[in-house]
Amino acid sequence: MRRYLMDEKDTIAVGVCLGKHLEPPMVIALRGDLGAGKTTLTKGIAAALGVQDMVTSPTFSLLNIYYGRVEVAHIDAYRLRTSDEGYDAGLEEYLPGMGITIIEWPESVSPLLPREFLEVRLSYLDNRPGREIVVISHGGIYDRVEKELEVNCS
Ligand SMILES: Nc1ncnc2c1ncn2[C@@H]1O[C@H](COP(=O)(O)OP(=O)(O)OP(=O)(O)O)[C@@H](O)[C@H]1O
Ligand SMILES: [Mg+2]
Repeated sequence: MRRYLMDEKDTIAVGVCLGKHLEPPMVIALRGDLGAGKTTLTKGIAAALGVQDMVTSPTFSLLNIYYGRVEVAHIDAYRLRTSDEGYDAGLEEYLPGMGITIIEWPESVSPLLPREFLEVRLSYLDNRPGREIVVISHGGIYDRVEKELEVNCS
């Protein structure tokens, strides 16, 4: 799926829609430049999964765990320089884990990613404010999720 996100509220709303179509265990690799809206989208996904706590950026904590209807693991790999550092931090336990794992800056630890996952890309646009979201399945059950999102969240 591909869609324009007008503002922060729109990013959260699409995150909510996305979250409604996820079932554990799943891994969401959230790509996008600094400030593209990855954590904002995660707030919506977590809300849809029944998380009531405030979702904050795990930039310094590396990993935040929330409990809604399912476990939500929110990773920010930005500060990791190698996948070994991610391995040492125990990230593989969540890739996949028992619930839904959302990982910002997955490219920092790509050897730790499972073979199948859902890729979500957020980007800035040249000639408009706001952002663009693109969702791409990397196999398995994610093919069906991608189709559902195309129909329901575009
Ligand atoms: N669709 C949108 N249009 C404009 N601004 C947005 C949109 N979605 C989110 N934002 C804003 O962009 C800013 C950065 O958002 P956020 O922290 O979610 O980005 P991020 O990708 O997680 O950043 P980082 O790379 O630092 O982790 C916030 O001020 C947020 O409100
Ligand atoms: Mg972030």
